[in-house]
Amino acid sequence: MMPTRTIHKPSAPGTTAHYLRDYDRTRREFSWAQARLELVGRADAHLNIAHEALDHRIALGSGDIVAARFIDRDWNRVEFTYRELKRLADRFANVLGALAVPRGATVATLLGRVPELFAVGLGTFAAGAVFSPLFSAFGPEPLKTRLQLGHAQVLVTTETLYRRKVAALREALPELRHVLLLREDSGGALPERCADFAALMRNAPDAYDPAPTTDADVALLHFTSGTTGKPKGVTLTHAAVIAQHATSRLVLDLHPGEVFWCTADPGWVTGIAYGLIGPLTRGVTMIVDREEFDAQRWYRILEAERVAVWYTAPTAIRMLMKAGTALTRTRTYPQLRHMASVGEPLNAEAVEWGMEAFGMPFHDTWWQTETGAIMIANFPACDVVPGSMGRAVPGIEARVVRRTGAGTLEILESPEQVGEIALRPGWPSMFSSYLEDPNRYRQCFIDGWYLAGDLARRDQDGQFWFVGRADDIIKSSGHLISPFEVESALMRHPAVAQVAVIGVPDAVAGQAVKAFVELRSGFEPSDALRLKILGHARRLLGAAVAPREIAFSDSLPRTRSGKIMRRLLRARELGLPEGDLSTLEGRE
Ligand code: WT7
Repeated sequence: MMPTRTIHKPSAPGTTAHYLRDYDRTRREFSWAQARLELVGRADAHLNIAHEALDHRIALGSGDIVAARFIDRDWNRVEFTYRELKRLADRFANVLGALAVPRGATVATLLGRVPELFAVGLGTFAAGAVFSPLFSAFGPEPLKTRLQLGHAQVLVTTETLYRRKVAALREALPELRHVLLLREDSGGALPERCADFAALMRNAPDAYDPAPTTDADVALLHFTSGTTGKPKGVTLTHAAVIAQHATSRLVLDLHPGEVFWCTADPGWVTGIAYGLIGPLTRGVTMIVDREEFDAQRWYRILEAERVAVWYTAPTAIRMLMKAGTALTRTRTYPQLRHMASVGEPLNAEAVEWGMEAFGMPFHDTWWQTETGAIMIANFPACDVVPGSMGRAVPGIEARVVRRTGAGTLEILESPEQVGEIALRPGWPSMFSSYLEDPNRYRQCFIDGWYLAGDLARRDQDGQFWFVGRADDIIKSSGHLISPFEVESALMRHPAVAQVAVIGVPDAVAGQAVKAFVELRSGFEPSDALRLKILGHARRLLGAAVAPREIAFSDSLPRTRSGKIMRRLLRARELGLPEGDLSTLEGRE
């Protein structure tokens, strides 16, 4: 199973000099204080993401470079230079000022990959408020939970998304003071209690000095799925930009003026850390495709936009593989020089397929919403062992550990032992809290280490190999899905008595969501009922979160204390050993 082949990297003459050429040396010489100084240029206490991404970049001479180019379905391109993007961000910061939105307030977006999202995000940073991007494919239920938990005071969304998903929630969101709408056609009347985003932007001045925020001020609120029904609100501070910048340089190897394409949606941390902030601090031109995945379209973008560095995800890579290498070959990619991946396990075959299709491997990177930036990576100048996630980023101390009791752990120093990934706190993009859940936050830290909840092993060269998650959380198409959140929505269907949700292997999405449903008496299993329950789940949760499959079950395996044993369902589903069943209900 473990491929032994190593993909060697001869440093071809004429290629861009990589920022990280010698891993050990860069690691030895690296310090976060130096990384901060390199980015900010000053050692004072002030730091603002918008300042580093725009003002500072403009001062470095990137003002007239295209910062982002948006491509729509019909291949129309809309682009903004760094200077133009700053003007938009400044207008939005002034809009927040005019609406008397205070520093520290949460500004949420429910938007696709549109220029307005960039303006709102950067303007929110500039104003010292907290930016909370929400995934546009969420249904009303996950949206309500996240807007409530985040105490969002402002929401920017489109009129269509608002009418479809948010309007009916307004009563449940008393803290939401301002809803600003992007209008598809400015015809009819605005929905009640909403304002016209474009009109506010038009009337706002386009100059604004970023708020004097400090490293410790919260800038971002991302939601991630946890092991309870409630999502976790992960806060990142303005200092996150230091790590996002350093990794955009050392891992993604972004050189000023280059074309970079991050395919992640801005509703998730990757789409912000490496689809907005990090790349801007590097002075690159970002490509933003407004459409969903399409193999032909993606190849056309890589070619026509002359993409040099490409950051994507295993699900997409597997879909490209499925579409076949003949399709890859219909175009050429002379500018493409580095490809990286994140979000789920990148199998060795996918890395090798990169060699076959593009003449270079995909470089796996590992991190989490909580880490705020890439922590473990394959670097462009270093040899790649397909299937491995790579080594710890300079400035990051990563180990494999085993919990040995309450508050203690053992560091597994000898290679190849499986344990949990642990990181030594001290990097600037480490999350600063789980919103309103200090206990949960504290529990992530044991004996001076942050425990990531992922199982891995480390080989003798310090390369990490992903083994699995230590919890029940499902990873589908790169998105973390809490089985509990899906179960809660299913439980609200009148026919459902009990439900258990697990992830089952899927060749493309990595995992797919499967629900086992026990029906209430009076309901009989049928395909019609299955479709009804599926429809109910999609309406509440959105298609990205709803189960793909529902199986009816007469009785779900439960522990004696009444907890559904997802582990057992999973083992049965996968034909794996059922493990310790001593707590299973009905066993003697
Ligand atoms: C979880 C974090 C990383 C930003 C986007 C996802 C899984 C992430 C890898 C990888 C195997 C990976 C882990 C991690 N994951 N990268 N290279 N190989 N698994 O952020 O939604 O917070 O998810 O994604 O399980 O804990 P996230």
